[in-house]
Amino acid sequence: MNDSGLEFLLDQGGLAAASELADWTLRPADQLQDLERLRARFGSEGGRALYDLELLRRRARIKFRLADAMIFERGGLEQATSEPVARLRAARFQEIGVRSITDLGCGLGGDALALAADHEVLGIENVPLRARLAEFNVRVYEPEAEFRVEERDLEAWSDIETDALFFDPARRDSGGRRAQSPTEYHPPLSCLDRWLPRVRAAAAKVAPSVRAHELPPDTEVDWVSLEGELKEATLWFGDARRGIARRAVILPGEHVLEPSSDAVESIGAIGAVLLDPDPAVIQAGLVESLAQHLGARRIDWTVPHLTADQRVDSPFARSYRVTEVVERPLRQLRRRLKERRLGRITLASRGVTIDLEKLRPKLRVPGEESAHVIFTKRDGESVAVICVAPGSAS
Ligand SMILES: C[S@@+](CC[C@H](N)C(=O)[O-])C[C@H]1O[C@@H](n2cnc3c(N)ncnc32)[C@H](O)[C@@H]1O
Repeated sequence: MNDSGLEFLLDQGGLAAASELADWTLRPADQLQDLERLRARFGSEGGRALYDLELLRRRARIKFRLADAMIFERGGLEQATSEPVARLRAARFQEIGVRSITDLGCGLGGDALALAADHEVLGIENVPLRARLAEFNVRVYEPEAEFRVEERDLEAWSDIETDALFFDPARRDSGGRRAQSPTEYHPPLSCLDRWLPRVRAAAAKVAPSVRAHELPPDTEVDWVSLEGELKEATLWFGDARRGIARRAVILPGEHVLEPSSDAVESIGAIGAVLLDPDPAVIQAGLVESLAQHLGARRIDWTVPHLTADQRVDSPFARSYRVTEVVERPLRQLRRRLKERRLGRITLASRGVTIDLEKLRPKLRVPGEESAHVIFTKRDGESVAVICVAPGSAS
């Protein structure tokens, strides 16, 4: 999507034609033909804009419930927050009674559309096309929203007149290079130092791989995962803090794990069940707290896997029923799979450096039985744990 594409969609009635493409298969092999058909009816710019929009809408469905009514451009969509995560954050601002929020680096409106449901929102964005998309997309969800966007450079922004801030800096530069630390964000996270003293509450979104020493002192952090995928770390400031230094938040469902004050470190033999904690739990450093919460124990200090003696159902960990622990797996595993006719295996590893793609063909054996094979460590040694996921028949 470029400026003239957006002009076609918004100002020349092109958007009405966009829904026609919803039934097209849009196979890569048909691209030239599809584009020709569209260009014949809508001109070169218009045809391209419709084609690109439909592709992006399909990609965006995983993030936005109303993706089929929104307008996207690729870079903005890649950086946009998924709707459930944006709503979770917006709910915290609502709980503390904030009236106005400034959304710093609002992109195409992924967070603004959730914030604008209950607040007066000002978006700031320095890419003019994205600013226009934010205006449009927020109104797809909130037609009456008190929302406006200013196109300007945040690095020079100082006229702060808002109760609260949400800051979502870009984590890639214009060439696509990924920032290695918050000092390389655009703008850098340190801009917060200038802004925070002027507002009641604030939140910032950073890469989930962020390390404690890269954050302002006393920052409260939520590591958030959605459908098992680690999405971000949310930093909370001012009145938005809750007095809990780190939490793991699992979506959907908003399951929250907090540090347990009486977590005792325990380690022991692999029992009937192997537990693979959600990545938000691991990244938040809450594996011990999870063990306490589930009545489980670690199997090695260097891997996050836990074990228990009976079935565990928890949103914080995937649970596998252990059928066998194979020592020296690189030597023994293939033989055991063959003996047990485990011809359909799913491989996973944690804490063990192993190239699963390379290994996969070597573990191919005849047989119809299925299993999960999880490489992990026990007492410092690599082992493969052959498991079935709960609910499987075998
Ligand atoms: C991670 S994206 C925001 C995504 C947004 N929260 C969403 O969910 O759609 C960061 C945005 O900050 C904008 N940005 C980067 N540097 C900026 C600056 N100096 N001034 C204003 N906006 C900036 C980028 O253009 C980008 O759209």
